[in-house]
Amino acid sequence: MSEPIRVLFVCLGNICRSPTAEATFRAEVERRGLAHRFEIDSCGTGGWHAGEAAHPETRAAAKRAGVEITHRARQLRAEDFDRFDHLLVMDHSNHENTLVLAGSDAHRAKVALFRQHDPEAQDSLEVPDPYYTGTFDEVFAMCARTSAALLDELLR
Ligand code: 4NP
Repeated sequence: MSEPIRVLFVCLGNICRSPTAEATFRAEVERRGLAHRFEIDSCGTGGWHAGEAAHPETRAAAKRAGVEITHRARQLRAEDFDRFDHLLVMDHSNHENTLVLAGSDAHRAKVALFRQHDPEAQDSLEVPDPYYTGTFDEVFAMCARTSAALLDELLR
């Protein structure tokens, strides 16, 4: 058995974007029968919502697309840089806040923008925050297509 590929999705509150990315990535992994090859989690750079379920609108948008989000929010911690191979952040602010906790060049090299893998990305590589924009279904669709492309890339 080879080592699993460990993927962590990171946003600010861990109740909207990163739980959606986590759930869409897991759904794609399971659809392809590859669950045994991955460890998948999400977290927030902020800890205000630690222990909470995802935002009701985030869960509702996922459910409309047939995906269940059961994640409980937690804050990013320094150990995550050792435990995970890839830390995929939702926006530039998350990127900066995540790098603050990175202890080495090897840790920093694990951090990247999730939407770098979005086949439909145009001018922005950020996932807009539906907590402020209200665009929960659009964010779900963005995360779903990006997760599929990310999985293709990780399997290459
Ligand atoms: P998220 O959205 O980072 O996509 O989970 C947010 C949720 C809550 C807050 C900020 C962003 N907040 O400040 O409470």
